[in-house]
Amino acid sequence: MCGIVGYLGKKEKKEILLDGLQELEYRGYDSAGIAIIEGDKLYNFKAIGKLKNLREKTKAYESEGFGISIGHTRWATHGKPTELNAHPHLGAYSYVVHNGIIENYQEIKEELQADGVNFLSQTDTETIVHLFEKNNKYENSAFAAFEKTIQRLRGAYATLLITESAPDTIFFAKNGSPMLIGFNGDDIYFASSDTPIIGKATEVYYLEDGEYGYAKEGEVKLFDGQGKKNFTKQALTTDKISAQKDGYRFFMEKEIYEQNHVMSETMMGRVLDNSIEFNELDANFFDGISAIKICACGTSYHSALTSAYLFERIAKVRCDVEIASEFRYKEPLLTDDTLFITISQSGETADTLEALKMAKRAGLKSLSICNVDNSSIVRESDAAILTRAGIEKGVASTKAFATQTMVLWMLALYVGQKQKTISDEILKREIDAMLQTPKVLIVTEKLHAKLYRLSKRYLHGHGFFFIGRDIFFPLALEGALKLKEISYLHAEGYPAGEMKHGPIALADSELFTIALMPKSMHYDKIKSNVEELSARDATILAISPKPFELADDFIQTAYDSHPMLEFFEMMVVTQLFALEISIRLGNDVDMPRNLAKSVTVE
Ligand code: G6P
Repeated sequence: MCGIVGYLGKKEKKEILLDGLQELEYRGYDSAGIAIIEGDKLYNFKAIGKLKNLREKTKAYESEGFGISIGHTRWATHGKPTELNAHPHLGAYSYVVHNGIIENYQEIKEELQADGVNFLSQTDTETIVHLFEKNNKYENSAFAAFEKTIQRLRGAYATLLITESAPDTIFFAKNGSPMLIGFNGDDIYFASSDTPIIGKATEVYYLEDGEYGYAKEGEVKLFDGQGKKNFTKQALTTDKISAQKDGYRFFMEKEIYEQNHVMSETMMGRVLDNSIEFNELDANFFDGISAIKICACGTSYHSALTSAYLFERIAKVRCDVEIASEFRYKEPLLTDDTLFITISQSGETADTLEALKMAKRAGLKSLSICNVDNSSIVRESDAAILTRAGIEKGVASTKAFATQTMVLWMLALYVGQKQKTISDEILKREIDAMLQTPKVLIVTEKLHAKLYRLSKRYLHGHGFFFIGRDIFFPLALEGALKLKEISYLHAEGYPAGEMKHGPIALADSELFTIALMPKSMHYDKIKSNVEELSARDATILAISPKPFELADDFIQTAYDSHPMLEFFEMMVVTQLFALEISIRLGNDVDMPRNLAKSVTVE
């Protein structure tokens, strides 16, 4: 999703902007641009594709002295990824960058066109800069014109505007899309998340929805619907997780290998010898709760689906899971004995955030499970449990999924403990298994080499079916999603027992079936399902601790003492499978086509 950076001060601006945008690359983008005003000089560069194209275009330029500057990575929503549609958008003498969607842009655009304004792009964003310049003709200051412009906008946005009519000022506004302000002496920074400003700013303020204002050298004035507002800065973390790939070919690969370490972080201080503790939750957080509703999107939705089995089986609490974008418009019946859980890696997914706001309006207690502290979803929730996966740069989520699922497993035990629906013996057994998870996630050289060799046989065919039962069904969905996200091959996840009700019609030797066959859960049932497919000549890749004679290819897993251990081990296998196929196909697995890491529009 789009990323915004801004800088006001005397330092070299081009590098600050380009470095900042680089840090936001993981959000996904298809074009980028920067604009700088130094006194009466105005510079603007845009390029489609990767940032290196923008770097190339700006090679001969270096900024000097005090100036104001904004930059943007764009993920196309209105209009194709072209240079004209890339931000910053220019009016006659002002530039704007924007993240989000202006819902009433068409109406504003028509008005402006009737006034004779000529639009260059197909974007909703361009309306902001023209509307500002129109207002600037009548208002007595550029800020008044900006304020009037913001008041007119409907929808989600984070925006920065610079103008020659106030060459010492950056105007900003935030509503629904993330933005923060960084401070270091007289220097002021803006960004969509804190990674671009770590190491540059020392203090930060995370803007709230409805806030806007302006920044000049050493000062920021903040306003909301009620007028001028005081705000408190907080110290910015200095712990910058290196963007280095540590020798791995892709961030995704690094992130798969990291899973065993981050899992220990996720459990630290929470998984104790005989109990599960969450300091984040008040002791009575679950009082009066008799059901759980979970909303999420994409990979996070799959971890939610997995947890529904655990909440019901372990904690004996009713649990429904819904895709956030569906939930938003179904007029759901919500009762206040339901805990509303959102799961999100980024904490910025628009559909999930909106679902959360709906649940809050209905009076439900809310909990978010998220990887990004201070994100919109975390701030909006009554309580939050951070997954502690560290920055995930690969667009295809791996370690975030693993840690989300772990937190949910822990939470199911925690609820069981609190509501006394789980015996000490079962609790102990679950905790013992949990503590073995990091070991299960270690990627051995042998396993990776095997998947590398095997991947060459799976580059074609007319489709993949990942099949599993129980918690291995959501894992099958996730395995299929991973493969399609980065390989662009068609893949589906299916409940193994449901194949005979339709999809088996597709079975032939060119249909690749990835069968998740855990020993500790419904082995015989899934075995019969796979046999049915094999009898119809489907090509079978079986993943199981038990050798399976009918498999064309076989990956033998090592841990079979607990379904969750088998789950996590098979998860790694499916991740590496997707990775190796996609690398062989020559794809950029970290930034797959058409996808964004953080989807902050509906
Ligand atoms: C995008 C990403 C997915 C992610 C989904 C939900 O589609 O490409 O990888 O699973 O958003 O994101 P969230 O940050 O809410 O988990």
